[in-house]
Amino acid sequence: MERPLITARDLERAPGAPLPPGALLTPLARDVLRKRGVHVEALGLGAPPAAAARLVVANWKSHKTLDEGLAFVRDLAALPGAGPQAVLCPPFTLLHPLRMALQAAGLTVELGAQDVSPHPDGPHTGEVSGRQLHDAGCRFAVVGHSERRAAGETSALCRRKALAALAAGLQPIVCVGETLDERRAGRAEAVVSEQLGAVLDALDPARLARLVVAYEPRWAIGTGVTPRPAEVAAMLAHVRRVLARASEAIAAAVPVLYGGSVAEDNAAALLHLPGCSGALVGGASLDARRFAAIRAAAGAPRA
Ligand code: PGA
Repeated sequence: MERPLITARDLERAPGAPLPPGALLTPLARDVLRKRGVHVEALGLGAPPAAAARLVVANWKSHKTLDEGLAFVRDLAALPGAGPQAVLCPPFTLLHPLRMALQAAGLTVELGAQDVSPHPDGPHTGEVSGRQLHDAGCRFAVVGHSERRAAGETSALCRRKALAALAAGLQPIVCVGETLDERRAGRAEAVVSEQLGAVLDALDPARLARLVVAYEPRWAIGTGVTPRPAEVAAMLAHVRRVLARASEAIAAAVPVLYGGSVAEDNAAALLHLPGCSGALVGGASLDARRFAAIRAAAGAPRA
């Protein structure tokens, strides 16, 4: 039997209504009931929905030829494979051959594209559609990476790309993050709210549940500089609050990654922060050994 999920908003809408048998409560709904003096545990009500999946995503950008990509797969296959689900986002040209190589090596690594066309198909020279990416073996597509936003990609275009990815059966990894000037001006949260809100506004709960978010402060990408762990934790909490505005029931189950100068030596501290579901890794993901070390650190309990 499907168990009804009750959110805080449901409780506010109908304050006196009896709870349906077997109801599941979101964490906020549990708090609301506790504040009303209801003994949630005594009612035997269920646990909140499952936690977000953990992912470590490699973004190769415009690096690697076919031979170099295949060598990476060979190297990865020779290393211990412990850690969260790994996702490789190579250039478009390497997607299909890497799918074949990963299968042949027996690696359960997923593939993602670094971008996706906002169009389903048609006369759009140079664009690669979600359907083609799915066909090439992708499960994910990065949307709104800061290097694309810096080249003029707007939040409105990111929204169209996220919708196109979802329509093609892909999970969009929506990147959000502020510039250093925006952070210094105290606008980091507002910028992230706007970037994420533009995508969330277009999603019903079923599509929201398929989203992945990556918080990548622009000033941390490729610089070797990362925010302080407390700053990352604060922004991850902010992202979850923005997600909860769209659906409190689903917010906890959306993976929220951190990206920007993740390396072997800082992975454990950053990726075990509360609310962090893993990492989007650029430079350090080009080397199989470094990528495997980050993945292992993301999986291992914090020392
Ligand atoms: P970086 O890149 O790890 O090299 O900083 C991250 C990214 O661009 O996603």
